[in-house]
Amino acid sequence: MGGKVVILLCSIGGVEMKNISFDYTDTSLVTGDEVRAAGQKLQNEIARLAQARNSGYETDYASINVVFDRELLSQVKQVVEEKKSLNPTTLVVIGIGGSNLGTIAVHEAIYGTFYNEQKPEINVYFADTVDSDYIYDIILLLEQQVEKGHNIIINVVSKSGSTTETIANFEVVLHLLQNYKKDDYQKYVVVTTDEGSKLWKLAKEKGFSLVEVPANIGGRYSVFSAVGLFPLAMLGVDIDALLAGAQSMVNECLNIDIFNNMAALSAAILFAHYKKGVTIHDTFTFSVDLKGVSTWYRQLMGESIGKAENRAGKTVNVGITPTVSVGSVDLHSVAQLYLGGPYDKFTTFIYSEKNKSNLSIPVLNEFESLVEKIQGKSLSTIMDAIMQGTQTAYKNNKRPFVSLSIPEKSAYYLGQLMQMKMIEMMYLGYLLDVNPFNQPQVELYKKETRKILSRV
Ligand code: PA5
Repeated sequence: MGGKVVILLCSIGGVEMKNISFDYTDTSLVTGDEVRAAGQKLQNEIARLAQARNSGYETDYASINVVFDRELLSQVKQVVEEKKSLNPTTLVVIGIGGSNLGTIAVHEAIYGTFYNEQKPEINVYFADTVDSDYIYDIILLLEQQVEKGHNIIINVVSKSGSTTETIANFEVVLHLLQNYKKDDYQKYVVVTTDEGSKLWKLAKEKGFSLVEVPANIGGRYSVFSAVGLFPLAMLGVDIDALLAGAQSMVNECLNIDIFNNMAALSAAILFAHYKKGVTIHDTFTFSVDLKGVSTWYRQLMGESIGKAENRAGKTVNVGITPTVSVGSVDLHSVAQLYLGGPYDKFTTFIYSEKNKSNLSIPVLNEFESLVEKIQGKSLSTIMDAIMQGTQTAYKNNKRPFVSLSIPEKSAYYLGQLMQMKMIEMMYLGYLLDVNPFNQPQVELYKKETRKILSRV
């Protein structure tokens, strides 16, 4: 089985965009017929999604429509303008899981992992877990800013408005802000939550700025709502381009012909492998900056299709285990397992065709013999060779994979990539006969935690 799906050339702002592409040429362990059968099963679901496209926020598929919401976009831009006029030096995003992973993914892909060290206009810190030492370090950094008289913006993001970690961290950071801005601390806080949540009510009471998460958009599908748009726009990401990319993918992924629909095709290939016992899906990015995308996807897959019950309530315990690998680092950690271990893994390689830099290895005689044939070559050339070598080894060793490439790490292509993956997950949920929008078992640990906290 083989082929390549590319998004048709389109133009934004008069500029012709290149293609994000999905290549599955002779690299999977299932036949065309097996994938076609899964695609056949998907026909009704694709039609349902196409119908939902015209239903605003009414259905569980609401996230495909948020990218077209002009009103929400202008509301977000207004709050961004308001907060930027305070000349903040730092933004702290407080949220966990679906409430911050998408933002981190886009931000890191565009600006890289050393963003704060490059003295940007606005630094960013993400406060998610309640690890005391980690949060303390963030507090120290924030304190340095406010002590110098600089302004900081707190964006607390919680759809439910009641996640323990998020509320705990919010209270800690807010306390710091209140100490320094006794009279007007309210204007430095932006709350992103569901209308009517406890946090929403608090925001109204205190006079914090509020941006709403539409009710039917779950955390892990919310990156293109105010959840991701507000912090990303504060940090200078072109959110119009991000949404344009995501919009183009919605239309593409409603195509009834699965061989011209990346999301459906990817879901069908993963499902066909799963049926054959391939129960692990590794997202292997050949770019450090794209690691956040894999981490975001890990949550998307883990929570969406790892389910105890099917749609009819029957116990099924299904799921594909998502893993994260980064090239070429992890070739030196888990490649042995991937190439030699059990045949239970499917890999999606993700890479960017273009880098921001063009660093080359100098030609120096004294180093010539250490590793041959690398002098004078660019690091990108070497990385490409390593990736191609890896894929050839996978192919020769019958390790199934597909590759997904984006032309460059820009907002538009990130929009395409992440939208495609979210729709892929909706299709996978359908094929596995589970609800991809809930996460009932996550409640189990929350309930136990609440019990313990009420005793200590
Ligand atoms: O995807 C999800 O629904 C979850 O990961 C949530 O985003 C996460 O649990 C945080 O929830 P909340 O946004 O309600 O604080």
